[in-house]
Amino acid sequence: MELGKYMKVSKLETGRDSEEDGSDLEGLLHPQDGAVSRPTKARRWNLSTVLHWIAHGITIILILGLYVRSDRQTQKRTPLSIYSPLVEAVGDASRIETFKGTFWENSPYHGPPTDEVMAAWKHIAHIPLLNLTAEEISRMGHSLDSVQYPPERGGGYVAQFEAIHQLHCLHSLWQDHQYQKHPEMFPDLTESIHAFPDVSEEHYEHCVNMLRQRLMCTPDPNFVTWRWVEGITGPYADFNIPHVCQDYEALLEWGQSRAVDAEVIRDFYSLVAPADAVVLSHAP
Ligand SMILES: *[C@@H]1O[C@H](CO)[C@@H](O)[C@H](O)[C@H]1NC(C)=O
Repeated sequence: MELGKYMKVSKLETGRDSEEDGSDLEGLLHPQDGAVSRPTKARRWNLSTVLHWIAHGITIILILGLYVRSDRQTQKRTPLSIYSPLVEAVGDASRIETFKGTFWENSPYHGPPTDEVMAAWKHIAHIPLLNLTAEEISRMGHSLDSVQYPPERGGGYVAQFEAIHQLHCLHSLWQDHQYQKHPEMFPDLTESIHAFPDVSEEHYEHCVNMLRQRLMCTPDPNFVTWRWVEGITGPYADFNIPHVCQDYEALLEWGQSRAVDAEVIRDFYSLVAPADAVVLSHAP
């Protein structure tokens, strides 16, 4: 990708042409002409004709049977979705949104890291700790040996959104870059990078690894196309592509309804395993 191409653009055409589908069925239909001869004699149903058609019938039934069976097996092998209490509560709120991909058109998450931009990131990447039921945990395929809130604080299973964890990872990569130029805006990050350089490095790689798997798991089937633009030599990529999107704000709202009070998780990383806890021998 030649990055230099995107340097001198002040205005871009973002509207999309909708082309008429010019397909036309007329002319494909021709009236049948010519005489149709009538049978003059009734067909004779002798034994070999009957056997012939019975054999055809059996073959068709066998083929249909095999088709239905293989179809059922395919459905068993590839479940299209995993149960989620979020999806059950919020439903499918998908709608078409056009990604904003124009160079020099800032988004609320665009650096430099002003207070406003930092707040925008915090809104989408702050991970609340949620309280899920045993039924929700086991229906999702998670272990019932997972960590629970202590009974004296209300109990329930500890969970966080994978979606927000991924946004947190993207935020971390963004911070890692912005921190180089504006370290004064990231005092906590400065401290943890100096105190635990190895962990910071591994966290960075963990985040790249998580986002890589997320993107490869559902590879975007859309396509980038190019346009001719006045004042620009050569084709120019149009990244403003329509996508089917879920409602991220609805996820955040549902999270609020399941988030535990700050007091409950005040000392979360100091919690100790109860006496009857099942303890793993290796980090998962
Ligand atoms: C978790 O939710 C249950 C209701 O499902 C409630 O009884 C319990 O107090 C909650 N636990 C916490 C830590 O808020």
